Amino acid sequence: MKSLILIGFMGAGKTTVGEKYAGKRRIPMVDTDQMIEEMAGMTISAIFDTKGEEEFRKTETAVLKKLLSGSEEKVISVGGGLPLREENRKMLKQLGTVVYLEAEPQTVLKRLQGDTTRPLLQGGDVKNRVEDMIKRRGPIYREAAELVVDVNGRSVDEIVGELEERMGEKE
Ligand code: S3P
Repeated sequence: MKSLILIGFMGAGKTTVGEKYAGKRRIPMVDTDQMIEEMAGMTISAIFDTKGEEEFRKTETAVLKKLLSGSEEKVISVGGGLPLREENRKMLKQLGTVVYLEAEPQTVLKRLQGDTTRPLLQGGDVKNRVEDMIKRRGPIYREAAELVVDVNGRSVDEIVGELEERMGEKE
């Protein structure tokens, strides 16, 4: 059964939108970051600190493989960096319909103000870093996705509504 996969930058609302959409459709929702935290028994920040980013990226790929072995329809929200590996993008496509929640730097910066849970956004010139990362990652997210949904200046209900409409058109 095909799943719905939400990709996009940190703070785009993948988890919030995914939970609402899954709740309305009464299907399960999983989040790769949460799966990794449960498997490792520690937070994402602690994994970055103690094992390093490379080890975290390896776990992301392992989690995708695990998801591919299941057959139940679900909503899958994935960490912002997961689609950067080509082998991960291939697996995302196999899992179902990939939707890119597109957020501008301003939206991300507003939503993640004061956030301490994203190791890649701690310290230094966060504004510059977010702008730079979105510029580099944007084309990759687009390449990975079948649908693109603009989240800037929109409520969760509006975004979920558009998602329902566009997923409905596909059926
Ligand atoms: C990351 C995004 C985070 C998390 C980790 C790295 C990234 O997930 O996987 O901090 O590289 O963009 P969210 O997109 O859910 O914040």
